[in-house]
Amino acid sequence: MVTRDDPALDDPVGWSLRGHHARFARRLGGAATYLPGVATFCAVTADPDGAAWTDLARLLGPGALADMFGCPATPPADWEPVFDLAGRQMVWSGGGRPGRPPAGDDAGVVELGADSVPEMLALVARTGPGPFWPRTRELGTYLGVRDHGTLVAMAGERLRPPGWTEISAVCTAPEARGRGHAARLVGALVTRIVARGERPFLHVSEANTGAVALYERLGFTSRRPVTFRGFRTP
Ligand SMILES: CC(C)(COP(=O)(O)OP(=O)(O)OC[C@H]1O[C@@H](n2cnc3c(N)ncnc32)[C@H](O)[C@@H]1OP(=O)(O)O)[C@@H](O)C(=O)NCCC(=O)NCCS
Repeated sequence: MVTRDDPALDDPVGWSLRGHHARFARRLGGAATYLPGVATFCAVTADPDGAAWTDLARLLGPGALADMFGCPATPPADWEPVFDLAGRQMVWSGGGRPGRPPAGDDAGVVELGADSVPEMLALVARTGPGPFWPRTRELGTYLGVRDHGTLVAMAGERLRPPGWTEISAVCTAPEARGRGHAARLVGALVTRIVARGERPFLHVSEANTGAVALYERLGFTSRRPVTFRGFRTP
């Protein structure tokens, strides 16, 4: 299994767009981004002369949002900063607190198909787990919990650098919290990811202390701080 030192985790967007998600990529020279509606994340190749930033500006067009996710590279000075949010990257290290729903306890967990997208978008709008767009579901498996037919919790797979799968869009409707839905959904995804020989990882806002504590209980450990950054192209 891949180790936490894997450099693919330092550029998970770039590795995903070059590999597992190549069919969702728009590329120009040293720049790449996802198709509209799938994700807004962008990647640039590491180059000392900055040509990849010129490529990205041409790919996105003038005055566009360049969502650099956790990319550590800094764009040229004329790219206006739009947002800057402290977060952390966590990797699944096995185990998890005894007493938590064991990974594999899928009771009540269902796979969410294309017909569930409107409900998924509505749940995301209510709970704010982070970016999720109309076609994000196509990036991997998305699982949910329904209560009398209504979607009350979900989680899914997003970035796919080689050997890794990112767990994302973890959210539970306010009225359904504290019942173990998020723990069960993350556990079910961990089981699937590990079963295919990959290792789970995720990203979380530093301010989201409740979610960080939940992930730690489920066996995730912090790998590195990340800054979610967006810029406006010149
Ligand atoms: C974080 C979130 C998904 C948890 O959903 P949930 O279904 O209530 O989680 P669970 O019931 O599985 O809770 C598991 C544990 O985390 C704890 N927990 C959940 N939310 C918490 C919070 N906001 N603060 C502190 N602890 C929290 C629960 O008390 C429980 O601990 P316990 O078993 O020791 O009692 C939910 O609060 C949410 O949707 N938040 C908004 C979206 C979000 O921030 N998503 C994470 C993005 S990275």
